[in-house]
Amino acid sequence: MSKLCRFFSHPVRLAATLVLTVGLGVAAVGLPGFAGMALAQQAGEVPGQSLGKTSDADFWRAVREGEQFTVSIPDKKAGVMIQSEGENWRNARNGPVTNFGGWIIVGMLVVLALFFGLRGRIRIDSGFSGKLMLRFSSVERIAHWLTAGSFMVLGLTGLNIMYGRYLFGRSGEATGDFSALHQFFAFTAYYGKLVHSYIAFAFMLGVVMIFVLWVKDNLPRGIDLKWLAVAGGLFSRGVHPPAKKFNAGQKFIFWVVVLGGASLGLSGLSLMFPFTFGLFAPTFGMLNLFGFDLPATLTVIEEMQLSQLWHAVMAVMMIAIIISHIYIGSLGMEGAWDAMGSGMVDENWAREHHGLWVAEVTGEAPPPDDDGDGGSKVAAEGAKPQTA
Ligand code: HEM
Repeated sequence: MSKLCRFFSHPVRLAATLVLTVGLGVAAVGLPGFAGMALAQQAGEVPGQSLGKTSDADFWRAVREGEQFTVSIPDKKAGVMIQSEGENWRNARNGPVTNFGGWIIVGMLVVLALFFGLRGRIRIDSGFSGKLMLRFSSVERIAHWLTAGSFMVLGLTGLNIMYGRYLFGRSGEATGDFSALHQFFAFTAYYGKLVHSYIAFAFMLGVVMIFVLWVKDNLPRGIDLKWLAVAGGLFSRGVHPPAKKFNAGQKFIFWVVVLGGASLGLSGLSLMFPFTFGLFAPTFGMLNLFGFDLPATLTVIEEMQLSQLWHAVMAVMMIAIIISHIYIGSLGMEGAWDAMGSGMVDENWAREHHGLWVAEVTGEAPPPDDDGDGGSKVAAEGAKPQTA
């Protein structure tokens, strides 16, 4: 028997040799496979087929970046697991929009207080004549007060949504006593939001009425430049630039109410009926035609976030501007309130602030400041001066 036969004749030695041989064979065949898998993992692939080929890192990165995945439930929005724009929206809403919005409103109150301190109440320079003229019909006044009343309710309830929790909602946080003010905020926030949603329709109706009734008197005209050149005489006594039914300042208010109101209404409706229609993607698409580079494809959630920010910014701007209107229509100018109260104004007030309009409704020759078109020469019967 050869030496080799003798070596393998021992069972243990034979078994050890077999194990060693098989092991080396497996290693020879398997190692390149393992190496390949390791390389594949480095390239971002997961070994095997059951879990798909995307690595966890890639998968979670896509989740973090807000990728829209497929879900089998009807609400496809659930396919976005993390929406980072939501955090940006929240920061913008609770940061600059809230802060600057507050300062704009407070700033307007300060400016008006200073103006009142320096200029005082704008008086009728020639005094009351005792003769009254019809300035606004009852339909016009109904349209005005429908818009004004609903706007004030919307403004207050809207400001409560934005600032209420800072003013009232935090009372008791330190002491743990959530009484009075905190409860007040909980009540007003809940019912205020309901009121806000319903009263919005009254406001939209009012804006449409105002637009139909007054648009023809609010188209820009050359004469407005004369009014603007002397700032309407607001800063100097005895200065009365020519104006028809509405002067340039009032035209500004009119267009703020009509365009701002339409914009507030549309963005409000998109918030009221979430995810049903988007305003921003089509608007951005149009703006891009003029050289802008705005995202023309937006998810429904992004549409909601932009609607909310736009609604808040527009509301704050409008509130600040309307505060100045309320001031000039009440405390700031003698004789103005009556125009929207009884509808009758003093003739001297009308001559000083709307001289061309007086000429139109009375049929008098227009003052020399007319801008040339002569205006409507048809005198409205009810507008003729009457003795008070
Ligand atoms: C207490 C609140 C308010 C008062 C005292 C007030 C007063 C007045 C007065 C007196 C006029 C007529 C001015 C004139 O005869 O030439 C007027 C007009 C007008 N008001 Fe108001 N108003 C108030 C609130 C509002 C609100 C909240 C809005 C809209 C959101 C509004 C929108 C308008 C518009 C569009 C006009 C016509 C353009 C103009 O005269 O500026 N008003 N208001």
